[in-house]
Amino acid sequence: MPIVTSKEMFEKAKKGGYAIGAFNVNNMEIIQGITEGARELNAPVILQVSSSAIKYAKPSYLKHMVYAAVEETDLPIVLHLDHGADFEICKECVDNGFSSVMIDGSKYDFEENVTLTKQVVEYAHSKGVVVEAELGKLAGIEDEVHVNAEDSAYTNPEQALEFIERTGCDSLAIAIGTSHGAYKFKGEPELKFDILQKIVQQLPENFPLVLHGASSVLPDFVEKCNQYGGEIPGAKGVPEDMLRKAASLGICKINVDTDLRLAMTATIREQFAQNPSEIDPRKYLAAARDAIRELVKHKIVHALGCENKI
Ligand code: G3H
Ligand code: 13P
Ligand code: ZN
Repeated sequence: MPIVTSKEMFEKAKKGGYAIGAFNVNNMEIIQGITEGARELNAPVILQVSSSAIKYAKPSYLKHMVYAAVEETDLPIVLHLDHGADFEICKECVDNGFSSVMIDGSKYDFEENVTLTKQVVEYAHSKGVVVEAELGKLAGIEDEVHVNAEDSAYTNPEQALEFIERTGCDSLAIAIGTSHGAYKFKGEPELKFDILQKIVQQLPENFPLVLHGASSVLPDFVEKCNQYGGEIPGAKGVPEDMLRKAASLGICKINVDTDLRLAMTATIREQFAQNPSEIDPRKYLAAARDAIRELVKHKIVHALGCENKI
C-alpha cells in the first residue's frame, strides 16, 4: 500500500458519519505509536507534520519514517503538511512526496486567503496532491501564527461555498469554538454545532470539513504530568462526545497534537520518577511509544469511530 491522499477516506467517513484522526508527528516513536494503534484497530490514519516539526526533524527524516510506517503496517496513510504558512512550504512538501498539504490563509482577509489558496491548489493538483484550506480563525499558538482569543473568529457559513468554489480546495478547516493547545475553554466546553450545520447545508453533499484544536486534554495524562512535574495550567479540552457529534454532522478530519504531547510527557516524567537512574533512552521512549499507541486506540474508538474502516 503506497501513501494515499485523503480523498477516498473522506468520502467514506462523510457517508459513515465518522472521522479520520490526523495526528501530529515529530519523531520515530510518535510515528510508530500512532501507526501501531491504527494497525491494531484497522483504522485509516493521517500523519501530519507542522513547519516546526520540519525544522526540528528535517523533511527527509519525517518522510522516510512515514514511508517506513506504510511499509511496516500496510495501512492507508496520508502524509500531510499541517498549517502551511505560504506557497513555498506547500510546494516543498508537494515536491517531496507528501500526499496532502494545508495552506493556512486564515490570517489574511477573505480575498487574500482565496488568492493564496488557489495558487497552492493549482500547483498541488497538477502533482496529484490534495489541499486543505482554512476559513475562520482559531485561537492559540501554531507555527508562525499566534491568535489571541479576542482575535479568533468563527467561520462565516455565508462565505464557505464561495471560498471552496473559488479556490478548488479539497477540504476546509472551520472555526466553531476549538483552539490549539491545552487550554481551550474559559467555562464549560462549547462547540458551535449550529454554525457547523449551517456550513454543511451551504456546501455540496460530502464536502469534507476539518476540526483543528480537537484534543480532549485527557485528565489522566494531565494529572500524571502534574504529579511528576510542573503543572499544566488551565488544562481543558474538547469532550469526546462532542467530537463524535461533530463527526456525525460532517467533520471528516479531527486534528490531535496536544493529547499526544501530554501522553508522551506524562509517561516520560513517570518513568524518571520511578527509575531516576535510568540512562537508556530506549526504555523511557518505548514506554512513551506504548502510551501513544494506547491513546490512539482510545481516540479511534471513543472520539473518531473509524475502527475497521479500511
Ligand atoms: O496546530 C499546531 C500543532 O499543534 C503543531 O504545533 O507547530 O508546535 O509543531 P507545532
Ligand atoms: P490540539 O492542540 O488541540 O491538539 O490541535 C492540534 C491541531 O489542530 C493541529 O493542527
Ligand atoms: Zn491546527
